[in-house]
Amino acid sequence: MGKFEVLDHPLIQHKLTLIRDKNVGTKFFRETVNEISTLMGYEVSRDMPLEDVEVETPIQKTVKKQLAGKKVAIIPILRAGLGMVDGILELIPAAKVGHIGMYRDEQTLKPHEYFVKLPSDIDQRQLLVVDPMLATGGSAIMAIDALKKRGAKPENIKFVCLVSAPEGVKALQEAHPDVDIYTAALDERLNEDGYIVPGLGDAGDRLFGTK
Ligand code: URA
Repeated sequence: MGKFEVLDHPLIQHKLTLIRDKNVGTKFFRETVNEISTLMGYEVSRDMPLEDVEVETPIQKTVKKQLAGKKVAIIPILRAGLGMVDGILELIPAAKVGHIGMYRDEQTLKPHEYFVKLPSDIDQRQLLVVDPMLATGGSAIMAIDALKKRGAKPENIKFVCLVSAPEGVKALQEAHPDVDIYTAALDERLNEDGYIVPGLGDAGDRLFGTK
């Protein structure tokens, strides 16, 4: 089974509480999601492999560490996932960005894939699939299906979200037991409309000021 980690760094927890408040505006919400994403990017990159490299300081030559191995691609699930991209790019500016477009049918709550555009070498990359809310798990499952179908290696996929519901975590773990899941919070449950309780409402609407 892949990892399931709640990233409970105090700054992440504090900032997440700030954006749960229904009274905060779009600008603050977007900026804070950015900041949280940077902090989460720092945490999820903890296990990136290092290799030895020779470097010559003004004093002498020495062997020190540099990042080795795979390059990174960030894959936001449209549209709310877009809100997490820039924050992670702050840390990993050379990462490529692929997009997976999913929308949720308001009646059935089931996700539909309408757009997939990925770097050509996803089989060689560490993939950070980002979506702020892991609710039913439907979109995450379909997005990861889409990646695997196109050659992504399961052990290279990490799913990163701000808020998760137990139902979504369970569904995603059952569908993709080989994928690591990172979240800033595991909330109580889903309500009858498919929203996470207490959650933060509709992340896409709050990021983009729609509705
Ligand atoms: N998507 C959201 O944006 N919010 C939820 O609570 C559930 C799904």
